[in-house]
Amino acid sequence: MNTLSAARVSELFGEFFGSQPQTLVKAPGRVNLIGEHTDYNGGFVLPAAINYHTYIALRPRTDRVLRVIAWNFGNAEVEIPLTEAQQEDGQHSWSNYIRGVVQQLCRAGFTLAGGDLYVAGDLPAGAGLSSSASLEMAVIRALLSLSGETIDPTQAALLGQAAENQFVGCNCGIMDQLISARGATNSALLIDCQDLSTRAVTMPSDWEILIVHSGVKRGLVDSEYNQRRQQCEQAASYFDQGSLRAVNLSELLAAEGQLDDLSFRRARHVLTENARTLIAAEALARGDLQTLVRVMGESHNSMRDDFNITTPAIDRLVEIIGDAGAGQAGVRMTGGGFGGCVVAVAPAGVIPQLMDAVNQRYQQETGCTPTLIPAKASAGAFSG
Ligand code: GLA
Repeated sequence: MNTLSAARVSELFGEFFGSQPQTLVKAPGRVNLIGEHTDYNGGFVLPAAINYHTYIALRPRTDRVLRVIAWNFGNAEVEIPLTEAQQEDGQHSWSNYIRGVVQQLCRAGFTLAGGDLYVAGDLPAGAGLSSSASLEMAVIRALLSLSGETIDPTQAALLGQAAENQFVGCNCGIMDQLISARGATNSALLIDCQDLSTRAVTMPSDWEILIVHSGVKRGLVDSEYNQRRQQCEQAASYFDQGSLRAVNLSELLAAEGQLDDLSFRRARHVLTENARTLIAAEALARGDLQTLVRVMGESHNSMRDDFNITTPAIDRLVEIIGDAGAGQAGVRMTGGGFGGCVVAVAPAGVIPQLMDAVNQRYQQETGCTPTLIPAKASAGAFSG
């Protein structure tokens, strides 16, 4: 499934620029094992960085211009003068992630230098595997390597998130950038999104991650996402709190019937998901498959019934994989929702039967074409 490597991207740089790059940096995408739509509610998430990346091969320039070539867009080329990076580019919208990051780095007081950048990634775009967060983290690494500066990984994540919130216009939480920056090999990262503390949770060595793209193109992502965020804030304000993290489940359950039904269900998803995420982290740490399977299943049902972010085809995909695993595979939709991917965690010996079931049944039953993406938990952009 990996279509690129560091060596291949260096070679592509050479073909384009006629010399070897000075440096090559990379930043991973991510898969979230559990803890969905909890990050912007100050809650818990348990993502893993994956072995699919955005790579940037680069060399310095003598002027203060970034010349950027995007392999994923047919070697499209943009020139970004570092002083005018704040201007949006309507034609090359991918370059706005780079412009947003430049703007945030400048605001944070970093002095940037010009460079030739060849950008290439093997993360499917729009699949919910955080190709945009990985681009942001790779760009920060590339730009700081050009100017010889260093950054704290959490600050890098916050600048990437700010770029996306303020420049690109998606009101995302911190999960994607933080895991791309701080992921750990063979581990998931338990993140407390209230104080941004992280704890690496090592996966049992004989367990594997299988991601399956449902073939359902994510629709209405930004509008529905921002709406869910608003509904959660509304539920928190019913309890006079700024975030749902400050509300406990018994308090919420006692308010059933008084709080409007939609706010109640949205909040119930978030609070129960926080609890499930902590349980899942413990289960992963001690290799307790049965518990992991249970809470991942409950997480999916909660996203389907309370948070209303799944689609019928994705629900079916989760059922097919769950049936094939016969209690040996945790499975749920992963990411923002309304399409995209499903994640399964299972002992290595169980993975082939999950793949067979998807190949045999999913397309036939739903008309959607699946893509199997075996993944390994990998290091973050700033973890090495
Ligand atoms: C998207 C956002 C994240 C997070 C997830 C849902 O990936 O970028 O911040 O909110 O959706 O868990």
